[in-house]
Order: sequence, then structure tokens, then C-alpha cells
Amino acid sequence: MEKPLMRIDILTLFPESVEGVLHGSILGRAVKKGILDIRCTQIRDYTDNRQNQVDDYPYGGGFGCVMMAQPLKACLDAVIRDAGERRRRVIYLSPQGQPFTQETAKRLQRDYDHLALVCGHYEGVDERFIEACVDEEISLGDFVLTGGEIAAMAVADAVCRMVPGVLSDPQCYIGESHWDGLLEYPQYTRPESWEGRPVPEVLVQGDHARVERWRRLKQLERTRDKRPDLFAAFRPQTKEDRELLKKLQNGHGQKRLTEPLSCRPATEEDLPGLMKMTDRAAASCGEPAEALIRKAIAQREGFLLMHGDEIAGCFALESQPEPLYEQISDGKWSDLAAACVLRFLWVSKEYRGSGTAGEMLRQIHTETIRAGCRCVRTDIPAKNKALQKFLRENGFRYRGNLTLPDGAPRQCYEIVYKEKKA
Ligand SMILES: C[S@@+](CC[C@H](N)C(=O)[O-])C[C@H]1O[C@@H](n2cnc3c(N)ncnc32)[C@H](O)[C@@H]1O
Repeated sequence: MEKPLMRIDILTLFPESVEGVLHGSILGRAVKKGILDIRCTQIRDYTDNRQNQVDDYPYGGGFGCVMMAQPLKACLDAVIRDAGERRRRVIYLSPQGQPFTQETAKRLQRDYDHLALVCGHYEGVDERFIEACVDEEISLGDFVLTGGEIAAMAVADAVCRMVPGVLSDPQCYIGESHWDGLLEYPQYTRPESWEGRPVPEVLVQGDHARVERWRRLKQLERTRDKRPDLFAAFRPQTKEDRELLKKLQNGHGQKRLTEPLSCRPATEEDLPGLMKMTDRAAASCGEPAEALIRKAIAQREGFLLMHGDEIAGCFALESQPEPLYEQISDGKWSDLAAACVLRFLWVSKEYRGSGTAGEMLRQIHTETIRAGCRCVRTDIPAKNKALQKFLRENGFRYRGNLTLPDGAPRQCYEIVYKEKKA
């Protein structure tokens, strides 16, 4: 049988806590296939004293015990003898080591085929063992664990999943978070709509090039939002990345959600704030914004999405039928009798791209169900392609056309929510 592509030895006082984890699931299958060889060795078996003592009091006094160099070195020698000639790296897991990253994992997988991972315990290990035997110290992060086992398992797992044949395809790990300094794009699976949250439409349209572009944009966007430190260090290598970054920068100055949005009915006192945010309102509603807002407030059908004290967005949802909707052309509504009418939805300019619109759609869903309906209908300017796209991407279906009394052409959209199973 050929040599496994990667051998991992974990030197530990607690082999049983490591064995199960590294021999289960994906790594376990790769071990069975002979791609990986993962072993745990009990350091205590290599003591040269009758009590099998592995630790002792620290010179100079202080709390706890320190692991002795002798059993560690004897254990490591035995492991090295057994593994034979290989490209080896002896690693001591330590809070004092370099923080472990995907780049470290890539380097270890690329440059070595034998990793000896030494786990300390108690107060740590005798410094002379580190000086004499260790090639590299790796830390799982800036915190202190009781032992090196969890860190050793993390290193072994991250390295081994990149060994050829362990995962079904290199594409499984290429492009994941941290592969090229960015986080991964958001992922979705069935059903297409879950609790009023539809999958972004681009993902179900089958246009592979658009999906790829959308995913890359999301990678950049969420790295900027979740890990500004990584984003600052990211250097675009392709023309496409440079273009996407420009697109993101155009949205600079936008507010980020630093706390969950809350939803409440709009009141008269909100009117001045609402008027400030409805910059494009008249254009999209076919009526002056102020009149619409006043009507919504008076009928208690206007709602605000609040980010702290700021209005991030607003919508008006009526539970009365709209007589004009009897006369749509080029299509028809669903058969549902009880429908709410979405009069308007606006997101404040500074909150565009922050996720406010998505949250608003969830609130529209909630309010619709609360009003005893399962369906929302709306009409929007036939010219407003951006709003049409937004509605389609969020589960609304185009149902036909309508002409307002002033002659303005409108497109009609509808969303029907699935009934919850009892
Ligand atoms: C309680 S710690 C000892 C910490 C040590 N006294 C210090 O302050 O640097 C015991 C063992 O846990 C492991 N360990 C603790 N934190 C770790 C981390 N962040 N990364 C990797 N290993 C860690 C090391 O193997 C260490 O020898």
C-alpha cells in the first residue's frame, strides 16, 4: 500500500478526547481510504519514572505544574522513528504561538507530509523541550485553553481537508471563507421561500455568469461589513474585482445596521422625519408623498422601521381592497379574496443596501398575516425598473398592468404567502 499523503501525530495526555473527533466523518473516511494517517500517542507511556509522572512543580515557585521535557522528547522520538523519512514539522500548540490562519494551513499542507502536534497541559511544557525539539508554535487565538488538544484538532482538520482526495473536489475548499482573504458569499438551500424570506432571485434563474458576479460582490460586501480588518488588507487581483469594489465604494456613506430594526406604527410626530426621507416618493407612488403619508397615519396603516431613534424605512399596508385593482389588463390576480394593498415602501437613502428593505418585507409579511390575509398586492410605476426587479427578487410576481386616473401606467405585483402547516 502507498504511503498516506499526510500523516498527523498528536502527542497528548488525553488521546481518547481526540481519537473520536479525527476518526469520524470526512477525515475518518479519508483515513479508511489510506489518504490520511492520523494517530494519537499517549505521552505518559514514555516516562522514565515508575510513577509515570509527566509533570512537576515549576522552578522558582508559582501555581500548577509544568510538563517535563523527558517524556515529551521520548514520545516525539518514538513517533519520528515510526514515521520514518518524511517532510516533517514539529508543532507545539501554544497560546504564545502565531495565530492559526488559512494561510498557515495551506503552507503546512503544501510543504509537509508529516505533522507532529504536541499538546501541552497544566501550566504548559518545559521551555527546554520547545527550544530543542519544536519547529513552530501555533496558537488557536488570543485566549488560553486547558490543553492543546482542541487546537491540535483544529490544525489537523483544517490541513487535512485540503489533502487531495479528502474532499470530493478542490472546489469544495477553494473560494471558501479566508481562501483568498475574503469571507464566503451567503448560501441558501430549499425551500425557495422560508417564513417569508425568499432566496435571492439571481440564484434561481440559472444564469451562471450572473450568479458568479453576485457571489463575488457579496463576498466583498460581507467582508467589508463583518471583517473590516480583512477588507482593508484585501488587494484586488482581477479587473472584475476592481469593478465590483468601485461599485461598493459608490455606496460609501451608507449606514450599517448596528442593532436589529424594530417596527412600529407611524404617528403624526413622525411626519417631519418621514418627509425628509421621501426624496423619490412622489415619483414612485403616483400621489404626493405627504398626502399618502398623512392618509396612512390617519388610517393607522403606516409603519416605520426604526434603527435606534432613526427612521430607516417605512411602508403603508391597507387591508381594504383597492377598487382600481378590479381593472387590471394583460393578466390577473391570484384567486385569493383577502389581500392587503401595499401603498408604498421606502428605504431612507442612507439605509439603502443595509438590509432594511429585506427586513421591511418580513414585517410586511407579519402585518399581512396579522390582518388575516395571505397575499399582498401593489402597483408601481411601469418605468421603475429597479423597484420591479426588487419585488421580483423578493418573491413578488408580475400580474398585469393598470392605468391611474391621471393616465400614468403602472405594473401590478402580488406575493402569496404559503400557509403555515399546523
Ligand atoms: C493552560 S495552558 C498553559 C498556558 C501557559 N501557562 C501560558 O500562559 O502561556 C495549557 C496548554 O494548553 C494549550 N493551549 C492553551 N491555549 C492555547 C491556544 N490559544 N492555542 C493553542 N494551544 C493552547 C497549550 O498546549 C498549553 O501548553
